[in-house]
Amino acid sequence: MDPIRLAVVGAGAQCTESLMPGIPYIEEIDLVAVCDLQEELAARNARNFGARAAHTDVATMLRDETPDAVMVVGPPQVHLDVGLQVIEAGCHLFIEKPAAPTIEGARQLVDAAAAKGVVGQVGHMMRHADPIRIAADFAAADDFGEVLSVESRYTTWPTRQLSPDKGWGTPDEDWSYMMVQGGHPIDLIRHFLGPIARVAAFRAHGAGSAKVYQVSLESVAGKVGFLNLQDSYNGWTTGLEIVGDKMAIVTVDDLGRVSFRRGECHVEAERGTKGNSTYVWEPHHTLTKWQRSGYGTQLQHFAGCIQAGESPMPSLYDGYRNLVVGQAILDACESGQVVAVPADD
Ligand SMILES: NC(=O)c1ccc[n+]([C@@H]2O[C@H](COP(=O)([O-])OP(=O)(O)OC[C@H]3O[C@@H](n4cnc5c(N)ncnc54)[C@H](O)[C@@H]3O)[C@@H](O)[C@H]2O)c1
Repeated sequence: MDPIRLAVVGAGAQCTESLMPGIPYIEEIDLVAVCDLQEELAARNARNFGARAAHTDVATMLRDETPDAVMVVGPPQVHLDVGLQVIEAGCHLFIEKPAAPTIEGARQLVDAAAAKGVVGQVGHMMRHADPIRIAADFAAADDFGEVLSVESRYTTWPTRQLSPDKGWGTPDEDWSYMMVQGGHPIDLIRHFLGPIARVAAFRAHGAGSAKVYQVSLESVAGKVGFLNLQDSYNGWTTGLEIVGDKMAIVTVDDLGRVSFRRGECHVEAERGTKGNSTYVWEPHHTLTKWQRSGYGTQLQHFAGCIQAGESPMPSLYDGYRNLVVGQAILDACESGQVVAVPADD
């Protein structure tokens, strides 16, 4: 099968450090061009990652290179504006998160892609991280039972006020957090719980931009979840715990170690000890960021779905719904009430 002819818009930090390094390993992708307003960045990434052309103007690139798909990695306003331009040109779209600076903008992308008959994916990469895919396989097995609850812990650098004049859309620190960081753990909990029906939440703001949100969620299917969002640490840590109703639990620590517990004995001497017999998967030291965190595997999934004529995930619709849930969390913090999440539309 022919590889997908991919063009890239944006050659800044995220694209260069996390996304493009995986591309040379993905046989489903043929990298045709890189575009950045800054000519030297476009030329550098085209040279270093094997694209045949470099551009500084998106319209020219779309016209000259006729890609099948375009990856857009810039400020959220660029995701929206260039995303609409890419869709209008009939190309499939991969955009980094957040899909847009506003809920309305994210919805616009969903509707535009549907009208044009192209697919879109948003860069909430954790769904595609190897440890999360392994946990998902455990959770989907018959002997795990129904997923009853999911807890997602997410600790990040304090998100400061973003600058609207640089395409970031809002000076509001809470909404900035939901756009820049909160969308990731929200996407992960939606991945395992399905559509969210209502949320209850508390938040605390501390020194500087430090803040935490503690959120209880109920899914439309009546399952429950907990988001422990800590925007108060000089680093990035994550945790996930999924509970099944056949007395099984799977956890993932820091997108690394996966532990599966079901209280069964593996050797005779365990019987009656009341100990915890645990299956553990740990990443090999050669496992790279593009597999472990999902930055590259998400792009492989995107290209593979286009080849197969399938819809990728997380879709543009997921990107939109992650922002809807983020807003409901902030509304719950503000009101002190349980807040109904607007239904899927
Ligand atoms: N998924 C993740 O874990 C993750 C991590 C970090 C950043 N991000 C996202 O990646 C995005 C980019 O972040 P960054 O740190 O790389 O930003 P950046 O400012 O370093 O890079 C953005 C680049 O886009 C270029 N650009 C802007 N408008 C353009 C246009 N119209 N045409 C061509 N090029 C244009 C700029 O010149 C710049 O080089 C952000 O939306 C951020 O939320 C995601």
